[in-house]
Amino acid sequence: MYSSKTVGVGLIGAGQIGKVHGQNLARRVPNARLVGIADSYIEAANNVAALTGVSTVYTDYHDLLKNPEVEAVVVATPTFMKKEVVGAALEAGKHVFCEKPMALTLPEADEFIAMTGRSGTKFQVGYQRRFDPSYMRIKSAVDSGELGKMLLLRSNTRDPPQKVAGWADPKVSGGIFLDTSSHDYDVIRWLSGSEAVSVVADGVTAAYPELEGLGDKDTTMTIIRLSNGALAHVDACRVSVYGYDIRAEVIGTEGAAFMDIGKSSEAHVMKKSWESNEFSYWYTERFDEAYRGELEGFAVAILGDSTPRVTAKDGRAAVEIGLAARKAMQERRAVSLPLG
Ligand SMILES: NC(=O)c1ccc[n+]([C@@H]2O[C@H](COP(=O)([O-])OP(=O)(O)OC[C@H]3O[C@@H](n4cnc5c(N)ncnc54)[C@H](O)[C@@H]3O)[C@@H](O)[C@H]2O)c1
Repeated sequence: MYSSKTVGVGLIGAGQIGKVHGQNLARRVPNARLVGIADSYIEAANNVAALTGVSTVYTDYHDLLKNPEVEAVVVATPTFMKKEVVGAALEAGKHVFCEKPMALTLPEADEFIAMTGRSGTKFQVGYQRRFDPSYMRIKSAVDSGELGKMLLLRSNTRDPPQKVAGWADPKVSGGIFLDTSSHDYDVIRWLSGSEAVSVVADGVTAAYPELEGLGDKDTTMTIIRLSNGALAHVDACRVSVYGYDIRAEVIGTEGAAFMDIGKSSEAHVMKKSWESNEFSYWYTERFDEAYRGELEGFAVAILGDSTPRVTAKDGRAAVEIGLAARKAMQERRAVSLPLG
């Protein structure tokens, strides 16, 4: 299946997730090789250089884009920078693996889709749950038809408490609906094979009162009506003291697929320590294999000229649901999709 050719990949943004992608590209993705690292903060680039043994570092990503060895880029900058950085990478004819969410607005996402279409480059969005074995098992149960007609889906993201930083400002990250729940919107669209037709949403600020001033929440819920007639609910919480809690489930007329539920139906009481329970501490541990697999899939799409598993259109759809959810919460009403 693999040719002996490898894809030369440049990393732009060497922070928390860039460090994960850089190390995977350097060591664990057989069809790709890390050829350069750009971060405007040189210490971050040098840190990933030391971890990977790849010493070609840049503080200006334009210089990385000029490197002829760079066929593709992984963009792992904060989301407000993606308009500029992804735009420049596509302009330079590079294939793009873009961390989620792909954009802060739909016109930005549309511009990336149009540029990708014009140049024939590959564009993949970092919704790694599609590469995670547990989610893939649920997807195959759905696709086999064994669950019958789909009635209800659920997906959640509950993050451990974090120091208030860039993620807290919706102008930087997109806020909780785009930055956090867009993972779940993608899971719901992918598992159901359906589009969102309307959403209602609500949110509260329980643990980080400073988010109110920024126009964001730390705990939210979104209810989505899907084009196949099923309902989905998504919840997000930034204050999961018992660990990183990420699950999905699908309920159909003939059966259900759950994650993390044993045959005993035992009730789980979780305490304030992930060491003593079954949860991972954070995403790097929980999705170790999926982060590797999504980059392998990206390189396979480039080398085999096939469609990536998570396309720019998938990325746009998740952003659209997030924008609709925010609007639904702010206006306290159901919002229909597509957004006008
Ligand atoms: N898929 C996942 O599970 C997952 C997990 C974490 C983060 N993310 C996403 O990855 C992106 C980055 O998040 P993070 O937590 O790694 O952020 P971070 O702040 O830790 O790292 C971002 C890095 O980008 C650098 N940067 C900023 N502007 C730049 C520019 N113009 N050129 C080059 N480098 C620049 C910063 O100096 C920083 O080192 C966000 O979109 C986030 O939503 C995804």
